[in-house]
Amino acid sequence: MSIRVHIGGRVCLPEEAKISVFDRGFLYGDSVYETIGTAYGRLFAAREHLVRLERSAERIGLRSPPRAEIEKAVAETIAAAGNPESRVRVILTRGAGKLDLDPASTDDTQLIVIVFPLGAPTPEMYAKGVAVAIVSITRNNPRAIDPAVKSGNYLNNVLALGEARRRSGAYEAILCADDGCIAEGSTSNIFVVRGGEIWTPPPAVGILDGITRAKVIELCRANGLAFQERRFSPDELRGADEAFITSATRGVLPVTVVDEKPVGAGAPGPVTRRLMDLYDQLARRGVD
Ligand SMILES: Cc1ncc(COP(=O)(O)O)c(C=O)c1O
Repeated sequence: MSIRVHIGGRVCLPEEAKISVFDRGFLYGDSVYETIGTAYGRLFAAREHLVRLERSAERIGLRSPPRAEIEKAVAETIAAAGNPESRVRVILTRGAGKLDLDPASTDDTQLIVIVFPLGAPTPEMYAKGVAVAIVSITRNNPRAIDPAVKSGNYLNNVLALGEARRRSGAYEAILCADDGCIAEGSTSNIFVVRGGEIWTPPPAVGILDGITRAKVIELCRANGLAFQERRFSPDELRGADEAFITSATRGVLPVTVVDEKPVGAGAPGPVTRRLMDLYDQLARRGVD
């Protein structure tokens, strides 16, 4: 199990990976990134993640290197790390410049790829589900830093997770939007099952439109499961029959406790288990 970093055009050990203190990613979170997981030894949905990386970069006016260059760096770093399953973080920063906020003051995009062992949730977490806490800190308003842009500025999410862990030791924080509706987790999207219907907040609430979320929606549609994108309240999450979160490195992970109280029967429900199974089959088949 090892970590390797692609930086400055070559793969190196983590302790050799250095970046300038003048890099705007470090100074201002002026960067974008993606986390891609492998499943059954292959990258899962890498193309969709790289499309989203380019879209995030475009939204903040950051020049992206050619896709082929990123793909090559990713492949070289995964090969050098040699892990059975990997978590791949692809970062683009605007680079180093003068101490000047103006993004036009530099155009020196840095590509960094970090490959870690996957570090997926444990089998016990999938079997029993995890606890989440609905936190007081709200998700960024889309007119501020749009949550649809996966930028390196994660302080909103960092503080949210800190609140959840401090308050109840919860595994994940669930953030609401300004209007009080449920938005998403600190690094995940959230779904509930109520009366046999699966709900997830629409992108207009102000969320990252997760790649895993999109796959789960496709699976619902392809398998005739009742699904709706709709807004719901914290009480509708607390009173759900089932809940689960999704992300690239977790797939579908059941949520069985919200704010220290059980959700539904307090164990992963049949709809969640069905989707976990369908998602696993998809991962086994692979998505480029
Ligand atoms: C804020 C946020 N929402 C949702 C997700 C899930 O997105 P994906 O399924 O593309 O990993 C992430 C992933 O890191 C995230 O950071």
